[in-house]
Amino acid sequence: MEVQWYPGHMTRADRGMQEDIKLVDVVIELLDARAVQSSANPRIAAITSGKQRIRLLNKADLADPAVTDGWIRKFEQEGIAAIAIDARSRSSCARVKPLLAEVTKAKRERDAARGIKNRPVRILVCGIPNVGKSTFINAFSGKASTKTGNKPGVTRGKQWISVDRQTDLLDTPGILWPKFEDPAVGVHLACIGAIRDEVFDMKELSYELLRILHQRYPGQTAARYGISEEVLSTDPGALACEKVLGDIATARGCILAGSAPDTQKAARILIDDFRKGTLGRMSLEEAE
Ligand code: G4P
Repeated sequence: MEVQWYPGHMTRADRGMQEDIKLVDVVIELLDARAVQSSANPRIAAITSGKQRIRLLNKADLADPAVTDGWIRKFEQEGIAAIAIDARSRSSCARVKPLLAEVTKAKRERDAARGIKNRPVRILVCGIPNVGKSTFINAFSGKASTKTGNKPGVTRGKQWISVDRQTDLLDTPGILWPKFEDPAVGVHLACIGAIRDEVFDMKELSYELLRILHQRYPGQTAARYGISEEVLSTDPGALACEKVLGDIATARGCILAGSAPDTQKAARILIDDFRKGTLGRMSLEEAE
């Protein structure tokens, strides 16, 4: 399955970020803890290189904790400041403050040596669509200043948010990049809801998700719906996936006229359950 999507406003957002980066001292990039690699936009890495960066592995409450720990260890080894958070929780977001103080220590000392006092640290908050930027900014700043919504790709204007006298945040629209070199990246981004559902086939995505979950968390999806997924062990092709979806549909009472299982509806249920964490805390990608 190939997911490609790059609407015009993404190009504008990319250009906007190239301008915004000149205005800030630090970059906070939000990643999705369930798909850390895929949610790391290479354009953001390119535009923000040379700036101090903090990575927040957000939605950690939905991700496999052991996998998230693996990613944090990897970043630590690489000298990248990173923590896992649940952006809906103020106490979780408050853990970013000491990290920020550490990252900006040298800058504050330079300012002090030049006699510059109390100039706020300016931070650019960025990430792919729907990764939780607005939710983080609201919890971190303690203000309901940023509109949150569940429509990836909804454009927002640029806005500065004053957290306190020492910290200003610049909110940026979510950006994707023009081409996913690895088709798995598109699939993972679609699974976590970073790409608008309208641009790919739900049924095909549900097949991909069934295969990934069967491989990474065997039996967990089946247990959730009270069905068997054994057929995926022998041949995880379209027929086997359709069979499992049929069983999910039947278990959920999604039956079409003529008593055939509504596998389209089952596809939607599966994807929504994964996104909400109802299937359990699961991650699509591990640190090497
Ligand atoms: P964005 O600005 O990056 O586009 O993302 P936004 O903050 O709008 O968040 C997108 C969705 O993800 C929202 O859900 C938000 O509540 C949810 N979310 C953000 N951070 C976390 C987190 O750490 N854990 C979990 N479980 N969810 C998170 P929504 O369904 O659009 O809205 P709502 O009904 O939850 O308000």
